[in-house]
Amino acid sequence: MDRPRPGRDWTRAQVDGRIRLLSVAAAVRNRPDADRLPAVGASLYIHVPFCVVKCGYCDFHSVVLDEAVAAATQDRFLDALERELALAWPGGVPDSVFLGGGTPSLLSPARLARLLAMLDRAVDLAACPEVTMEANPESLDAEKAAIAREHGVGRLSLGVQTFHPHHLRFLDRAHSAARAAEAYAEARRAGFDNIGLDLMFGIPGETPGEWAADLERALELRPDHLSCYNLTFEPGTRLTHAMRQGKVAPNDEELDREMFLHTRQRLTAAGFVAYEISNFAGRGGICRHNDHYWLQGDYVGVGPGASSHRAGVRWTNLKPIAAWADAALAGLPCAASAETLTPAQRAGEALWLGLRRTDGVVLSTIEDRLGWPLRARFGERIERQRAAGLVEFDGDRLWLSAAGLLLADRVGADYLAPAI
Ligand SMILES: C[S@@+](CC[C@H](N)C(=O)[O-])C[C@H]1O[C@@H](n2cnc3c(N)ncnc32)[C@H](O)[C@@H]1O
Ligand code: SF4
Repeated sequence: MDRPRPGRDWTRAQVDGRIRLLSVAAAVRNRPDADRLPAVGASLYIHVPFCVVKCGYCDFHSVVLDEAVAAATQDRFLDALERELALAWPGGVPDSVFLGGGTPSLLSPARLARLLAMLDRAVDLAACPEVTMEANPESLDAEKAAIAREHGVGRLSLGVQTFHPHHLRFLDRAHSAARAAEAYAEARRAGFDNIGLDLMFGIPGETPGEWAADLERALELRPDHLSCYNLTFEPGTRLTHAMRQGKVAPNDEELDREMFLHTRQRLTAAGFVAYEISNFAGRGGICRHNDHYWLQGDYVGVGPGASSHRAGVRWTNLKPIAAWADAALAGLPCAASAETLTPAQRAGEALWLGLRRTDGVVLSTIEDRLGWPLRARFGERIERQRAAGLVEFDGDRLWLSAAGLLLADRVGADYLAPAI
């Protein structure tokens, strides 16, 4: 998520009192340059909010459905999604499509086929430069992998997390390490030539040796992309609750740092390109969809709790599945909140997000896009961070130094300070 975790980060950004409840249409219409907003060039995100189990560390929006209501809820979800898609997508071919969650692979073969067919009707998946689907080992099988491939999914992102049984148990994962390898093999046999694995390090009690072994096992599978996330204690999760009760202690920061540095060294040696703090491109190249978030592109999110962004206006859908579906099926906007960012806020976020990328951010590009004197306004901060050895700056491009990489969140957050 750090998927780049757009959903999560945006939600956080909205808790600071800047939220203005506006209808989305009004928010966009009120912009002075509304008539010049691009109709296409956006990415499309589909949120599938169902999971087999709720992992204790996870604060992404998902629910575990009771078996008695699962089929009806998922059918209604698909009905509503079709309606929302028709209303929310402005038309044209998206830069990228990302089916995330939750767990898209949890849908039955027939429902998965229905979801992909409706997407295809809406955006012509074959014409999209990148179509990614998240999958979990416990629910992906040969049949679903074949359906996804045949219906135009080109990238698969498989949530493996770790190959150690005791860590999988600690994380509440619903699959074994062997199942993860099988699901991977099934996806390959179905014809996927671009498979990414999601891994996690910094699990309480994990040693650098265990993490190194996880990386080696992952490399043996020859994935096309790797995401390696440092486990974070998110507010409101069972894991954080257990920590507050003293039942779980976070790993020593020094150990996490060691694992982070080992990840970059090992994966670079294995031919991967560290293009973002947690993401490594192999043969499959970068994840275009996530890069689009980090470059502050426009995106439309459909599904309960999904966020969208268009030229500085950001809105977030109703989270409860029933309420979101009611709105969508009635042909109403599904947004629960919207905010219009000032150019200063957008510039701050552009640096906060862009600094995650190894290439960093090109300031003149942001200045041109926002019409805001970014270098003049942020000059002092940049100079302070440069003098402290946290960033490198060539007068236009700004990127994290080796030291800044270890403090990325803090360095980026400096540009979000409200005083600007
Ligand atoms: C939200 S999940 C959705 C995909 C899928 N359900 C899964 O579990 O892999 C996407 C990825 O986010 C990462 N993630 C979720 N919560 C996290 C946390 N608290 N700290 C670090 N990574 C996290 C996991 O690696 C996970 O694979
Ligand atoms: S399966 Fe994925 S989305 Fe679902 S709870 Fe676990 S990490 Fe979160």
